[in-house]
Amino acid sequence: MRSSYTMAFFRPFALERYFAEFEFSARYLLSSSDCETVSTRELLALEPGAEEGYLSLRLGYTETRGDPRLRADLARLYSRIDPDSILVHAGAEEAIFDFCLAFLSPGDHVIVNFPCYQSLSEIPRALGCAVDPWPLVETPGPGGGGRWAFDVDALARLLGPKTKAVFMNAPHNPTGALPTREEFDAIVALCRTAGAVLFSDEVYRYLERDPGRRLPAACDAYEDGVSLNVLSKSAGLAGLRMGWLATGRADILDAVVSVKDYVTICSSGPSEYLAGVAARRLEELVGRSRAIIDANLGLVEGFFARRPDFASWTVPEGGSIGYPLLAGGADAEALSRRLVAEAGVLLVPGSCYSHDRSRFRLGFGRKNLGEGLAALETWLEKDSR
Ligand SMILES: Cc1ncc(COP(=O)(O)O)c(C=O)c1O
Repeated sequence: MRSSYTMAFFRPFALERYFAEFEFSARYLLSSSDCETVSTRELLALEPGAEEGYLSLRLGYTETRGDPRLRADLARLYSRIDPDSILVHAGAEEAIFDFCLAFLSPGDHVIVNFPCYQSLSEIPRALGCAVDPWPLVETPGPGGGGRWAFDVDALARLLGPKTKAVFMNAPHNPTGALPTREEFDAIVALCRTAGAVLFSDEVYRYLERDPGRRLPAACDAYEDGVSLNVLSKSAGLAGLRMGWLATGRADILDAVVSVKDYVTICSSGPSEYLAGVAARRLEELVGRSRAIIDANLGLVEGFFARRPDFASWTVPEGGSIGYPLLAGGADAEALSRRLVAEAGVLLVPGSCYSHDRSRFRLGFGRKNLGEGLAALETWLEKDSR
């Protein structure tokens, strides 16, 4: 009974259900979006005195908006945001949920990147919004290679007087697309003219291939911009479940706080403490993730060069994941299920995004990527005999 009621409200989160089957049993996770993690000890060692502070922490309730010191540390990551303009959540996931419940009403028009992290479209849909997909497009890039792009003209056509919010995610899951500064400015200008809030999922920020192409956070660039970030991806701290919203729109944050009261009330104290250390040491943590990614990208390029008969990809411009295309229109879900059963290598098929069935997601933020690719290659060799 209970599960059919849940299903009527939310469609199952396809990617989470797929991961639930394999994430903790597969030997090689070749599709994870979070970068290699660290131990609690390693994190605490980044800051003198942090270990003692952590062990002395009292385990009472915390402030609903988040520990003031943590909010001050997070606010420093932005140029126009003060600590009161930050709202801490249990991961990015809770922040998306609470924001949607607080801000959207049935009948609202919203525009969402497609494909996308399913919450960004599914929660508005379940709330009764009219959800228009805003497709990412694969275009020829300068110098011959391709490029996944945010189609600014398409956004202009989709926006209307009833558009309440545009949900974008850049660097993008799963394509790795990253708008140019000109494209981003045009997106902000379009939202401003339409009077739409820009909900900008920036959870892969800091993982741009070229750091010079890092975009301003939406909350700094646009008075109606709401930025979402988390320590799961670039800092490799997914188990902390520490995400946050940043926006100058105090009215929106006030409404989101009212929802948080009914969801988690407040965040986990130990996680907030550790998140504070991470926020103050973000450069080191991100630098570590970027070094792993740089080394891994060389391995991935070598793999695609050796096996063009298997798949090819448009090089992601940011983030820790890419979205290759299987050769010959092969079915990625059938392949992924065989691959994980026979070789213990986990990929995520495009069907998890209700998108192209010949694509799969490849994650390159983990240290053992080389081993996973080697296992995949061995399996492919056996398979073609
Ligand atoms: C684009 C995007 N947004 C939000 C999330 C949720 O992040 P978290 O699991 O840290 O809550 C993810 C996780 O994969 C994501 O890829």
